[in-house]
Amino acid sequence: MNDKHKFQLNWSRKAVVYQIYPRSFKDSNNDGIGDLQGIIDKLDYLNDGTEKSLGIGAIWLSPIYKSPMVDFGYDISGYTDVDPVFGDLKTFDRLVKEAHKRDIKVIMDFVANHTSIEHPWFKESRSSKINPKRDWYIWKNPKPDGSPPNNWLSVFGGSAWTLDKTTNQYYLHSFLPEQPDLNWRNVEVQAAMEKVLEFWMHRGVDGFRSDAAYHLIKDDQLRDNPANPTYKGAKNSYNSLIHTYSQGRPEALDTMNTFCSILGLHRDKYMVSEAYLDIPEMTKLYKACSNGLHAPFNFNLISLPWDAKLIRNHIDDFEASLSKNDWPNYVLGNHDRPRVVSRIGEKRARLLAMLLFTLRGMPFVYYGEEIGMKNIDIPEDLQKDLFGNLLADNRDGERTPMQWDDSANAGFSNAKPWLPVGEKYKDVNVEKELDDSLSMVHLYRRLIHYRTNSHVLLHGSYRSLDLGDNHVFAYLRELSDEKILVILNFSKDEESVFFPYQKTKVICTTNGEKEGKIIDINKVTLSPYQGYVVEVKT
Ligand code: NOJ
Repeated sequence: MNDKHKFQLNWSRKAVVYQIYPRSFKDSNNDGIGDLQGIIDKLDYLNDGTEKSLGIGAIWLSPIYKSPMVDFGYDISGYTDVDPVFGDLKTFDRLVKEAHKRDIKVIMDFVANHTSIEHPWFKESRSSKINPKRDWYIWKNPKPDGSPPNNWLSVFGGSAWTLDKTTNQYYLHSFLPEQPDLNWRNVEVQAAMEKVLEFWMHRGVDGFRSDAAYHLIKDDQLRDNPANPTYKGAKNSYNSLIHTYSQGRPEALDTMNTFCSILGLHRDKYMVSEAYLDIPEMTKLYKACSNGLHAPFNFNLISLPWDAKLIRNHIDDFEASLSKNDWPNYVLGNHDRPRVVSRIGEKRARLLAMLLFTLRGMPFVYYGEEIGMKNIDIPEDLQKDLFGNLLADNRDGERTPMQWDDSANAGFSNAKPWLPVGEKYKDVNVEKELDDSLSMVHLYRRLIHYRTNSHVLLHGSYRSLDLGDNHVFAYLRELSDEKILVILNFSKDEESVFFPYQKTKVICTTNGEKEGKIIDINKVTLSPYQGYVVEVKT
């Protein structure tokens, strides 16, 4: 297969991916919790084939598997079942069919590092030292003084080891004690999890988001992690160590390559891996997979400071690190991080949206981001994510119900929602914003449709420009003689910049100004946080 053919084939080179947190998207059976039927009911909003809808090309569903929900689905007790709270396999099949009808691909969360403590594999494993599934998890004797086998820490705080009374051995859990880590050095575990991938691909799933991908394989000698000399003390002591031996092991790259080979046996599949990494580490993950069907997430737009130069440098360096088959991606928010508007405010969030949809690669949108939903402070007695609290901040704030309209419960459910609805939902909701051409949802819609229909944005090159202005980041996307220029003002002040172009057509601006007009951008003056996308004729 030559490269050209591949680009045409794989949807990943075109799709904008929309992350759905199923509990919070739409409740169809009025139990206060979102479900699969609710998602089906809202597919037209995501893509009805016309420019009225968002124009999404793929949905990623956070876990819908059978689960005791201690970590809201990231603790799985049945990998080939749908949890009854979300529906059943029949409804899932319908969701895939309905999504495909609308040209929407379906990505499942693939939680391979750990199961739930309730999973039958773990129940067997913990039952005795000689159980055939004992080695499916990581068990170790206490040290002579009874303490854990090594100094590894759980991401959620405290030791990564819990002593199990049944056999008086410790088991390893990189996250909660209720989420025991599978032993990925065991070939039976590998085979069982490969079957899980096959099961969902046979049901029509188009791709996977691999959870905690960097944690999969641990040091074979379980050596102590070294202390982190830069650690200054924080709520969660996790960063007091450098996780040399508990994550990012070279063998994890082989596992990644195996996943890619399995995907490659099917038509048109893709995988994206969750790991918060810098560019050299991302490069390792890209290189792990030889067929271009996998990418690590790039979360750096979430953590980089608000600085045009730093963001430009990051994107330039990231672009330079990629080889021909590597497909970049960018993310502004997810179910583990505060929402983008809460982090930086709406004007800046609009500018980042313009960046997101005009860069090369796969843009990810977190549900509600397109209407500018904000985090909510959840009173302690209503909090559900008790463990996120240990990590840093409670994560409920970014997981609240989708705001569909200004009716009770924001149109999410007729029953009391599992988490409170945002106070501002009467102003910030889909219905209201669809009626206002200057709203955030219209900016998202315009950018997504323009992108999806633009060969230059989809397949063109990226080149940033030196403007002699540290507050404005501008770049060209080019394909043959077609050019698209993106100009982003990161400053709270007006900025003027100069380009050697005269007649340009304004495709999109962050505030809707001048769209569709032909303007001369020899000198262009941008209002605070304003961004422009223009077509340049040379
Ligand atoms: C990453 C997921 O995004 C997060 O929500 C979860 O708590 C951990 N992995 C553990 O599965």
